[in-house]
Parts: sequence; structure tokens; C-alpha cells
Amino acid sequence: MQARRKRSLSRRAFLKRSGQAGLGGLALTVGAGALCHGPRAFAQPGSASTREFHLEARQVRWELAPGKRIKAMTYGQVPGPELRLHEGERVRVVFTNALAEPTTLHWHGVDVPNAMDGVPGLTQKPVAPGETFVYEFEARPAGTRWYHTHFASVTQLDLGLYAPLIIEPAQSDPFPFDREYTLVLDDWSTGSRPALPRTVEGTARARGSMGGMMGRGMGGMMECMMGRGGMRGGMMMGGGRTPAYDTMTINGKAYPATEPLMVRKGERVRLRLINASADHTHIVRLSGHRLQVTHTDGNPLAQPVEVDAVPITPSERYDVQFVADHPGVWLLSCAEPGHARAGEQVQVIYKGHENASPVAPAGAVGDLQAWHYGLGQGRTLLPSPSGQTHAFDLILSGGMMGSDAWTINGQQYPEVDPLRLRQGDLVRVRFLNHSMEAHPMHLHGQSFRVLSINGRPLARPLVKDSVDVEAHMGAVEVELVASNPGDWLFHCHKPMHMEGGMMTLVQIS
Ligand code: C2O
Ligand code: CU
Repeated sequence: MQARRKRSLSRRAFLKRSGQAGLGGLALTVGAGALCHGPRAFAQPGSASTREFHLEARQVRWELAPGKRIKAMTYGQVPGPELRLHEGERVRVVFTNALAEPTTLHWHGVDVPNAMDGVPGLTQKPVAPGETFVYEFEARPAGTRWYHTHFASVTQLDLGLYAPLIIEPAQSDPFPFDREYTLVLDDWSTGSRPALPRTVEGTARARGSMGGMMGRGMGGMMECMMGRGGMRGGMMMGGGRTPAYDTMTINGKAYPATEPLMVRKGERVRLRLINASADHTHIVRLSGHRLQVTHTDGNPLAQPVEVDAVPITPSERYDVQFVADHPGVWLLSCAEPGHARAGEQVQVIYKGHENASPVAPAGAVGDLQAWHYGLGQGRTLLPSPSGQTHAFDLILSGGMMGSDAWTINGQQYPEVDPLRLRQGDLVRVRFLNHSMEAHPMHLHGQSFRVLSINGRPLARPLVKDSVDVEAHMGAVEVELVASNPGDWLFHCHKPMHMEGGMMTLVQIS
């Protein structure tokens, strides 16, 4: 606990709660000024129970690694400042757009009121350059969430407009830990290295073995070809104009510039993994240690699931834990071909062993036991239904012959037939992927249960807000209880796909 506190403070000094945080009425400024000049916290009269944050979007030069500077769009830094909230507390975020183009803020995985959801043209007008917009909501549910732009995601999300949002549970945490780190994964296109193979197929979690994932079908072949030949990602079949990603980062830095994770022997360490990538699934593993998955998209499992590696598709979050029982210096890295070399590694250093040389993960990727949806047992977290029952089939297609058009039931957003629901309705949505790329489908405003993957029912449905639907006839069935009224997007989280039209609308009245 002590270690965790200390660590939290050093990493989020600019977000620091002053000693009076518990008294309420404290506002936090996390905008540009605060980042440059240290913490600024000031009492805010007249609204004792609302915590206020200030955020600003602006362009900066960002150093991914020494000598590798890019133009990034940020909330001051990459990733933006981590917001730490308590479940149930009221939050006000005063957001200023200092970019040269419009933008919005979306609270991914947070059950916000519809008007606070940050979808331009649907829930609000885009925030114009120089303008300020105030977001207000209650922080729930607890868990690892994130916030990001929802405007022109092909550029804005890709260039760094994202950050963690952690909601600490009001009740005691079901999986206590001594220390925690938040790790945000991202892919970058810098033009300075050969392009990496694209994640085309998806994570094949339901098959339960990495062998199945790597070896199979067209995507597997493509990955091999591209891995060797450095073929540009944009040339991929079905890839359209997807940028050629060549650099991978953890918390905005490519190894060896990633900030080491310090641990002490005996500690239980939680890692909050967030995949902010536009295109890539990552497979996180830690040499010398196994990982226990405890949360899917921020929602606790019935019990931890121990694996060697955790595949994480764009927009997903996993909380994992490990017990620091193996002193030394280890590498947490991505097992996807080429990703570790492209920067996706960070050292895990045991106190007192700082001078040991880092040990890379050993063993063939195909032999790893990887997390997949079928391994987890979810908890009953969603409300009970009280209305009608509906079922929808949503066919995902597009990207043929390099086209940038992506569809749901043949329709491109905004020309879509919404799923019309009433509060309390129980709704089954079955996704069927007729395209040659995987689609991480994300629902705004409320989470859903994952009922089955590729026809195989899950014993105890996982609670999530993003689910990967594999390429080549991948099928996923989810169930939601329409609980949050408003117009909500249900969309693929790959920016090229969402802006290519792969979004639909869930209307809850
Ligand atoms: Cu991460 Cu439409 O959201
Ligand atoms: Cu997609």
C-alpha cells in the first residue's frame, strides 16, 4: 500500500491530491500549465461534492524514443494525465480545445449521461478550436476505463489523444494488491522503420492456443510475408489506407525509453493494460512470471485466471496481477511478431537487483498458454431486465479490394437503422464477421455480457464493453440490458473502420 501510494504520486505528480482531498471541494488542474509547473490544486467554493479537472487538447512534439520525435496531438503528454476517481463521485472536466481543428472527449467504459458522451454530431457539437466544453458525470462503474477523442479518430486518436481513467471501487477491491501500474499500449506510424505486420485475423482467443492464432489462414500467411519482406501495411488486402505502423509504445515511449516498473520482492502487483492502438492486437507477457487476469474491460472476474500471455485488442482493457517472487530484472513485452523490437517492452526491476541484466521472455510463442474469453468467469454486474426481449443480427463486412468502406448489415453510418429499445429491455446482439479483418466492437453508455464466441457458449458470461469479432466468419453473441437512455454508438474501434462506416446506433428511450 505504501509503495503503491508513493509510486502513484511520482507518476501523477501533476494530478496530486493535496492532503485535504478527503475534505472535498478540491479542484485539480491538469492542463498545460500544471504539467510544466508542477501541481496546482485549489479549493473550489460552492460545490463541495464535485471534483473538477481541467484538460486541454493541443499539439506537441513528442519524443517516442531518443531522437525519434513526432508531431502528436495530446492532453499535454502521451498518454494524457490519468484521472483517478472514486466510484460514485461527481466529476466536472473543463475541457479546452487548443488544437487547430475540432475535437471532443469520450469517456470509454463509463456510464455517462448521453449528453456527456462526446460523440460529435450525435450527443454534442464538436468543440471548435479555442472553445471550452464542460463534461459532468458520476464516476461509474469502478474499474480501468479511459478517455479519448471521438472526432476524426483516424488522425486524432492515432496521434495520442487518449488517457487512462481509473475509477476506484467504493467497496473494497475484490483483488487487493500492493502496487499498481497503468500501461497504455499504442502503435505509431513514423516512417523511420519497416512496417510491422498488421493484426488482421484477431485474437482467436476462443481457440485457446497461440498456435491457432499464428498459423491460420490468410492473415497468418500475410503476417509471415510482411514480417520478412517489410511490405507496407497499406498494401494489405482489405487494408485500404491503413497507415504502416512501425513503432510500438508503452505509455508513450518505445523501449529502451520506456520507464521501468519497480517492484519489491513479495509484492502483488497489478497492471492495468489499456490498448489504445488503432490497428494492433498486442499479446502481453512477462518473463519469469505468469499473469493472473482479474478484470475484463475494468469489470472483475469471479476469480483470477492464470496464463502466460494476454492478447488485448484495440480499446480493450485487462487488469492482470503477478506475484513478485522471482527477483531480478525482467521484460514485460509483446509477443506479436516484431512488436518487442519495435519498442513494446518495459523492464520490471526488483528493488536491490537494479544492476542485473534484463531477461527476455523465453519459449516459442506457439507454446504459450494465452488468455481467451472462454477462460474467464464473469460476475453478475449488470441490472436485471424488466422489459421486452429483442434479438439482432449484425453482419460486419467491407474492406473488399482495398476499399475503405466498412458496413454493418450493409449500411454505413450515419445511414443506419438504429436498434430501438426501451429501458429495461433485454437485447441479444449477434455479430457475424464476413470480412477479412477482425473488428473490436465497442458499445457506448453501458456494458454487455459476452455470451458466446464462434458458437461456443461461455460458462459464465464476461462483462465487457469491447469484444473482438475475429476475421473470416468470426461470431460473437452479446447481451445487454438497456439501462442508460439515449443514443449510443456501437462501433468498431479501429478508426479506419469506424470512419469507414462500421458504426451503428442503439437508441434507448
Ligand atoms: Cu473508445 Cu466510441 O469509443
Ligand atoms: Cu473493424
